[in-house]
This record gives sequence, structure tokens and C-alpha cells, in this order.
Amino acid sequence: MSIFQGDLNPQERPRSKLNIRTPQATDGVAVHNLIRKSAFVDDNSLYCYLLVCTHFAMTSAVAERNGETVGIVSAYIPPLQPDTLFVWQVAVDPLMRRRGLARSMLKFILQGEACRNIRHIETTVTADNGASRKLFSTLAEKLGCPLHESVLFNRREHFLNLHDSEHLLRIGPFELTARTTETIHPIAQEIQHERHL
Ligand SMILES: CC(C)(COP(=O)(O)OP(=O)(O)OC[C@H]1O[C@@H](n2cnc3c(N)ncnc32)[C@H](O)[C@@H]1OP(=O)(O)O)[C@@H](O)C(=O)NCCC(=O)NCCS
Repeated sequence: MSIFQGDLNPQERPRSKLNIRTPQATDGVAVHNLIRKSAFVDDNSLYCYLLVCTHFAMTSAVAERNGETVGIVSAYIPPLQPDTLFVWQVAVDPLMRRRGLARSMLKFILQGEACRNIRHIETTVTADNGASRKLFSTLAEKLGCPLHESVLFNRREHFLNLHDSEHLLRIGPFELTARTTETIHPIAQEIQHERHL
């Protein structure tokens, strides 16, 4: 008798190797598809995701399981804020959530050479995105630093009432050391890392 793994809850499903790595242009389509099936993240053009996977590859990460893209963190260092990592979009396949994958991808990015001068992390969230808020509030706790919230893009003024307000979460200042990055998420046996410099 065969068992369809999708019928099992996450705790019952057999664990398989996860690989977190630097994105490449050939990941663009899979990243776009993952974004399209995720609630709370805006779907942008494929071209946008090709830029993430090339220009912003060193500050982004993809996660794969059995050759399938199951996670993406797209981030960049804003030109006028060289000490800040701005996390643009995070998405994890619904079947892979609540296992530390988003936090492991953030850890992978922060451990990279491109982040050696990073002292703050910024992102924006809508008021109702509890999962994303929890991801970043626990990150601040683990880095042992404050999290400050303010409205960056206002529903009426910036989105013409077509989109909820985006709240800026600013985490920091923190020191990135081997010890602090290790506290973000413990090394998980089933997760491999692969960095392309
Ligand atoms: C937000 C999202 C990326 C989190 O990914 P994830 O891999 O499940 O997150 P992690 O497992 O690394 O969890 C990090 C922390 O957030 C908590 N968390 C994650 N999802 C949660 C939820 N739905 N409700 C409450 N807490 C949640 C985890 O418990 C963990 O905290 P802990 O260490 O105290 O237990 C995922 O839910 C997702 O893809 N959502 C849809 C897209 C989205 O909203 N993206 C963010 C806006 S760009």
C-alpha cells in the first residue's frame, strides 16, 4: 500500500533533506510560482524575481526539498542604508511551515559575506499578518535587540486605498558574530547549506 505524503500532517510526514542555497536566474520561475500560491505576499512580475535571483542573490535565499522550491527570502541592502538588510518578501510552502525554515533562510543570509556590515534588519508587514510578525519578533528576541514599528506606506496616502498599510519593522542594532547568528536557529541536521560566491 502506498501512502500519499500530502495526507499526513507535518509531524507524521517522513523528514527529507532540505537544502538552503543562494538563488540563481534559473530559480526565477519556481520562486514566482511559490509567491503566487502564498497569501499575504504581492505577486510581482517574473522579471522582478529574476532580478532577486541575480542582482540580489547574495542577500537572498531559496530552500529546496526533493528538487522542489519550498522557500524564498528575498532581501537587499538599500543603497542609502549600508548597515541594513531590507527583507522584501518571505514565503514558505504551506506544507513546510512552522519548522524554522524561514528563520533558517534568514540565518543563512546573515552568515554571508555580503552581510558583514549589517546592524539592522527591516521589513514591512500588514497589521493582520500574524505569522510574519511572529517571525520577526522572535528574530529580534533571538538577536537580543529592540524591534521598532512605524507605518512606512499608508493605505490612503500611498496605496490609494487599494492595499493595506505596510508597517515598517526595524530590528537592531545588533552585532553579527558566529554566536549571535547561531542563536537565530540551531543547526538542523536535515538542512544543508550551499553558498555560491
Ligand atoms: C511567514 C512565513 C514565511 C513563516 O515561515 P515559517 O517557515 O513557517 O516560519 P518559522 O518556522 O521560521 O517560524 C518563525 C517563528 O514564527 C512563528 N510562527 C510562524 N508561523 C506562525 C503562525 N502562523 N502563527 C504564529 N506563529 C507563527 C514560529 O512559531 C516561530 O516562532 P517560535 O520560534 O517562537 O516558535 C510563512 O507563514 C508564510 O510563507 N506565510 C505566507 C507569506 C507571508 O505572509 N510572508 C510574509 C510577508 S512578506
